Amino acid sequence: MTRKLFVTTALPYANAPFHIGHMMEYIQADIWVRHQRMQGHEVHFVGADDAHGAPIMIAAEKAGKTPQQFVAEIAAGRQQYLDGFHIAFDHWHSTDSPENTVLAQDIYRKLRDRADGSLITTKTIEQFYDPVKGMFLPDRYIKGECPKCGAKDQYGDSCEVCSAVYAPTDLKNPYSTLSGATPVMKSSEHHFFKLSDPRCVEFLEQWTGGERLQSEVGNKIREWFTKDEQGAGGLSDWDISRDAPYFGIEIPDAPGKYFYVWLDAPVGYLASLKNYFDLGKAKARGEPRSFDDFIADPAVEQVHFIGKDITYFHTLFWPAMLQFSGRKVPDRVYAHGFITVSGEKMSKSRGTGISPLKYLELGMNAEWLRYYIATKLSSKVEDVDFNPDDFVARVNSDLVGKYINNASRAAGFLSKRFGGRLSGDVGVEGRVLLDHLRSGHADIERLYDERDFGRALREIMLLADRVNEYVDQNKPWELAKKEGQDAVLQDVCTVCIEAFRLLTIYLKPVLPALTTEVEAFLRIDPLVSTDAHRALGAHTIGEYRHLMQRVDPKLLDALFEPPAAAMVEHPKPGGEEIAPVIGIDDFVKIDLRIAKIINCEHVTGSDKLLRLTLDVGEVDATGQPRTRNVFSGIKSAYEPANLIGKLTVMVANLAPRKMKFGISEGMVLAASHADEKTHAGIHVLEPWPGATPGMRVR
Ligand code: 2FM
Ligand code: ZN
Repeated sequence: MTRKLFVTTALPYANAPFHIGHMMEYIQADIWVRHQRMQGHEVHFVGADDAHGAPIMIAAEKAGKTPQQFVAEIAAGRQQYLDGFHIAFDHWHSTDSPENTVLAQDIYRKLRDRADGSLITTKTIEQFYDPVKGMFLPDRYIKGECPKCGAKDQYGDSCEVCSAVYAPTDLKNPYSTLSGATPVMKSSEHHFFKLSDPRCVEFLEQWTGGERLQSEVGNKIREWFTKDEQGAGGLSDWDISRDAPYFGIEIPDAPGKYFYVWLDAPVGYLASLKNYFDLGKAKARGEPRSFDDFIADPAVEQVHFIGKDITYFHTLFWPAMLQFSGRKVPDRVYAHGFITVSGEKMSKSRGTGISPLKYLELGMNAEWLRYYIATKLSSKVEDVDFNPDDFVARVNSDLVGKYINNASRAAGFLSKRFGGRLSGDVGVEGRVLLDHLRSGHADIERLYDERDFGRALREIMLLADRVNEYVDQNKPWELAKKEGQDAVLQDVCTVCIEAFRLLTIYLKPVLPALTTEVEAFLRIDPLVSTDAHRALGAHTIGEYRHLMQRVDPKLLDALFEPPAAAMVEHPKPGGEEIAPVIGIDDFVKIDLRIAKIINCEHVTGSDKLLRLTLDVGEVDATGQPRTRNVFSGIKSAYEPANLIGKLTVMVANLAPRKMKFGISEGMVLAASHADEKTHAGIHVLEPWPGATPGMRVR
């Protein structure tokens, strides 16, 4: 029976180019989709940019662009990655689109207006508000002092210094990282999706219980919503609204309120599919129906590939939204782990050391990466490690060594000696080998279907080993030198080519571009699954063309080298270029000393300066302790009383400077971003415990 599949990958935020983590997910989904298509199934494979939300709105503002311009520029950069790694999405759209607006609002209305009781409710909640920016502050934009250890500049959820966990409202001296202003508490009405409603709970218990989720995911999810004996735990209602200003979709009948980005993001799957149908692209894939008819069909399988970090959204909110708005629910949610590089975790925003574009620019073969990643993937939610040495070994010894090499040798003899003609019949030994190769077919297909790509490839390489044993036993290079052995040589080479064709069928989902080359060289139609059950017979193949190079390990060194252009491509550190290089001789001219702040006071008439009295362990001619008077532009950041008694670092040999308020005898060191105002302040340096006044800093 022909399956009808609607397949998606998670929609990437439209604030940054793809990183290797995205490519891993797309490679996984693409292999699965290609496998389904080779079986003759109908697949509609779509993606889109996840365009909305506060971070994108703020990033656009910082870049001096409208959010629409900002996300359009990111979207324009997508195709080179997808083409480069042979990711064959049928369509790519955006959540900032008319389709998504209509669909998200429709889903919301259906949830709200349910005849058996609304699933939308409103509650007034209090939240931090930035009075300067005029907006409510998501937690990530609030920093302050840790309520436990007093460390400065800690985020609103936990302290990086003492690991304390707390709420943003617990922070001492909180500030908005957007404006530096002190946030105030402000209340506002929010819209909630009543996930705690018994109808939702009952539905989700059933939905998460079946075959739709990997077992480890299902178990985890059910832990989330089972209540303990005291009735605690369980699902809470989900806050789905945000106040203006917000880059998002307006909530119907609620002026100034927008859907939280995570509400409209998964709706983007449907929006992209709808746009694809409306453009007539589904017809081209053999689907004559409209979007509405297609997506209402229970026989259509809706499959989402996602990362393990977003299972909550895809296995609770998303199916419930669909179910209670009267739509089809997802049939499968396949979560994968993260990609690590030599065991190191990657950061969601910065990615890893591997830049997918650099990989391509170095001329590295995209199918090496597809193959390598595939060897590491299973149906489990496991992390995948990219290890450079392992990468070289897998590609060179397995892919090139075991699979490609035999074909080139056999094809060489066939074209030189037999005009490319294959033998019609290959004899018993050859038939046994080819039958053995065919007998692996069903298992391999099942493993692909179950996303157990690593195991599928191991099976395929075991078959390749058998082909190599056959070649070693029959030694075509010796047959070629012997008189009267032509027919045997032709048979042996024919077996090699048939074996190569079978292995190519098995590898095609992973190596689509290489397969196209193979199909051209063998002069055959695009390979499909059923081709494994027939033989080429007395067919004439073309000239061998070069198929795949070995990896030069030097390429991996180049891949991991820090990019020379890093300064141009990435935001400058602290908002400014690193200053021109100096020698150590230049540095030692600056005499930095530990100084104790003996006194600190406001300077009448100055809104920038504080007057510091510093002790750097000096004495005057009479042996009396000598202090220094230093003016420092740190008034915006410190209350004088909080500085008295602290240690800091000063430039002790700076020529005294006459200022409006007196003579400044040195300079105190402080850290700040080039753009102090938008980047929260000035931070005076303080030495680690043990330093005493007068010590030199070098
Ligand atoms: O975590 C993320 O990168 C989200 N942009 C994924 C959204 S998936 C779907 F819901 F759109
Ligand atoms: Zn702390």
